[in-house]
Amino acid sequence: MKSKRTPYFLLIIISFHVVFLFFSCTPNRVLPIAIPTPADNPITDAKVDLGRQLFFDKRLSINNSVSCATCHNPKFAMTDRLPISKGVYGRVAFRNAPSILNAGFLKTMMFDGHVPSLEMQAIVPLQDHAEMGHDLRVLIPKLRGIASYQTAAREIFNRDFDAFVLTRSLAAFERTLVSFQSKFDLYLAGESDALTKSQKRGWALFSGALNCVSCHPPPFFTSYEVANNGLYQVYGKDEGRFRIHNDSSDIGKFKIPSLRNVELTFPYMHDGSMTTIDDVLNHYMQGGKHHKNQDKRIRAFLLSSQDRQDIKTFLNSLTDTSFINTIYGGKSIVFPSF
Ligand code: HEC
Ligand code: HEC
Repeated sequence: MKSKRTPYFLLIIISFHVVFLFFSCTPNRVLPIAIPTPADNPITDAKVDLGRQLFFDKRLSINNSVSCATCHNPKFAMTDRLPISKGVYGRVAFRNAPSILNAGFLKTMMFDGHVPSLEMQAIVPLQDHAEMGHDLRVLIPKLRGIASYQTAAREIFNRDFDAFVLTRSLAAFERTLVSFQSKFDLYLAGESDALTKSQKRGWALFSGALNCVSCHPPPFFTSYEVANNGLYQVYGKDEGRFRIHNDSSDIGKFKIPSLRNVELTFPYMHDGSMTTIDDVLNHYMQGGKHHKNQDKRIRAFLLSSQDRQDIKTFLNSLTDTSFINTIYGGKSIVFPSF
């Protein structure tokens, strides 16, 4: 047992070290690490502006009723507060909309963890029948016909508005959506008063006895792997990553979601089946539903009512609404009430 635990412990120490190192280099404590950016899509202000306009533009959907922001709404930390998202004509999509804050750091996208880049990901919702219902062959001429988009494409990319311009701009904008200014970040940066006593106890449980940290480690609060967290004994119509390679060891494996802003991103899990953090804690306390692929790290535990309270207050210390400023381009805006 002891030797098994050591790597996690080391991992935590290393993560702390890395975070401290980077925070000490960045005076405004905004980013723990640089946003990975592909060589063929450098971030520029003009491109991000174009991406932002496209992200909020309902004309990207077949009947001009749904934008990316419909399901990734800044008010709800880039989610939609629905168990399962709704797209054009009220069609019900496949899954719960994940927050796309810090999506620039994802190694693979989607709950199946199979789409390799933000540039490629953008095409999926645009053409998904239940999401935006469009067809790039129709959408591109439509957007090229909008003078401001065509002008921006010429100025920024030196070409007519096309799928390249659309996906590069959306991805560049998404890479600016970062969230690292929570109370917990201040604490990691050395402000020990940033967390209350209860939050510190919650962090100790999360990173210690309960070992949540092995799948949800700081600074991102996800290890970027896929895992079966024992949500079901029998997975119904959505078997997770299994649908990509038909490999039975993938049944019930889903991308481990980040827990940043988890206070704002309910309902939880790929199917929105849990409404509150209490529901989630009850699930983990029971040690999962024992699917054969259930990860060994999911094990039953007991929580006193004080422990439960401490974990919840700790999770709330991951809330950070500073991204709102970025989303609206630092312009003066009316802050949505959360
Ligand atoms: C109808 C709701 C809806 C719309 C509209 C929508 N999305 Fe999503 N988005 C989702 C859902 C649901 C998922 C999860 C899909 C999955 O895992 O199969 C998702 C996943 C993502 C992801 C991957 C996040 C992760 O953690 O893996 C990104 C990035 C993303 N969307 C960006 C966009 C962009 C850009 C647009 C506009 C072009 C957009 N979305 C439009 C619902 C929506
Ligand atoms: C073996 C890896 C693993 C461990 C350990 C683990 N989780 Fe998770 N967690 C996941 C996966 C995978 C999901 C997503 C499952 C899904 O979507 O069906 C998830 C989802 C969640 C969610 C929902 C997030 C959202 O936005 O939908 C919360 C909250 C959560 N976990 C908290 C915890 C806590 C608290 C612990 C410790 C008691 C913990 N997790 C331990 C893998 C893990």
